[in-house]
Amino acid sequence: KQTVGLVGWRGMVGSVLMQRMREEKDFDHIDPVFFTTSQAGQKGPEIGKDIPLLQDATDIEALKKMDIIITCQGGDYTKAIYPQLRSAGWNGYWIDAASSLRMDKDAIIVLDPVNQNVIKQGLKDGVKTFAGGNCTVSLMMLALGGLFDKGHIEWMTSMTYQAASGGGARHMRELINQMGMLQGSVASELADPASAILDIDRKVAEQMRSNTMPVDQFGVPLAGSLIPYIDSQLDNGQSREEWKAQAETNKILGNTSSIIPVDGLCVRIGSMRCHSQAFTIKLNKDIPIADIEGILAQHNDWVSVVPNDKEATMARLTPTAATGTLDIPVGRIRKLNMGPEYISAFSVGDQLLWGAAEPLRRMLRILLD
Ligand code: HSE
Repeated sequence: KQTVGLVGWRGMVGSVLMQRMREEKDFDHIDPVFFTTSQAGQKGPEIGKDIPLLQDATDIEALKKMDIIITCQGGDYTKAIYPQLRSAGWNGYWIDAASSLRMDKDAIIVLDPVNQNVIKQGLKDGVKTFAGGNCTVSLMMLALGGLFDKGHIEWMTSMTYQAASGGGARHMRELINQMGMLQGSVASELADPASAILDIDRKVAEQMRSNTMPVDQFGVPLAGSLIPYIDSQLDNGQSREEWKAQAETNKILGNTSSIIPVDGLCVRIGSMRCHSQAFTIKLNKDIPIADIEGILAQHNDWVSVVPNDKEATMARLTPTAATGTLDIPVGRIRKLNMGPEYISAFSVGDQLLWGAAEPLRRMLRILLD
């Protein structure tokens, strides 16, 4: 059995990864070694079999003994440890949730239902470094994989509605605290059906603009509002999150000579852990909607096409419906007024599952095959 080092398994993405690995019995197929940045020598997590005590995640000699390392520890850890490990001669497989190595020429972005061919070719060519993609990109590509696969997309925009979890665990807590504070500021008026709605609204707005809201993580209130900027500011007008869409999509597909333009605005909204996206897609020919739906539905086991009617959309195409599942519903598929080659679509997906943890454990299983 291969010896697999796990780093950053206690954080939010790491915990989701652990849960999925237990569910899929991944631990039966490996000899796991758990690493820690703070608790070396202590007992590791319960995984249904005996494991060594926790090892120091900065101990290069200990890490060097691993055949495979999976890390959800974050970009700073990757930047500090990965180069040391490689220059110490380690030639094992590195599977990383962080973005640091994604665009490295020696790394492949893993999303095997979409780019199994790129992964298989990379393994033949001796690639040893694999990174999970940005969450919106991975979720978008699972939703629209069929159209990419058939080469039908000339260009597309993705306008996102991104969940609090994309910022981290503390962001999720802050969002709920903000929601509670807003409700609390008008609780007595809400209890009175005769109270005036404009008074309630004014009080809520005052609360949001007061300096008493918890905003340490988001910087401004998100509850009752939204934030149309995610990640850092680049010089070209895009946010870094927006920049990733085209760069990572084309890298995942292995496109080098002809690039599919992908761009749009990324917006933080008050959902918990599902990222949603509205797409405008320019097809390279006029394709009937029923054919498009068939192409999308057949692409992978997780995507499901939601009929473009109100009842189905409300029941199936929301964060409430998709959260905590591997389902990738895609709907609102229709021709736009711009012409027969222009369609809309809307997708939802759990950004901790397919958006982060799932592609990593699936890459592990590919290595074990
Ligand atoms: N950058 C994403 C977000 C999460 O902030 O929603 C990680 O890919």
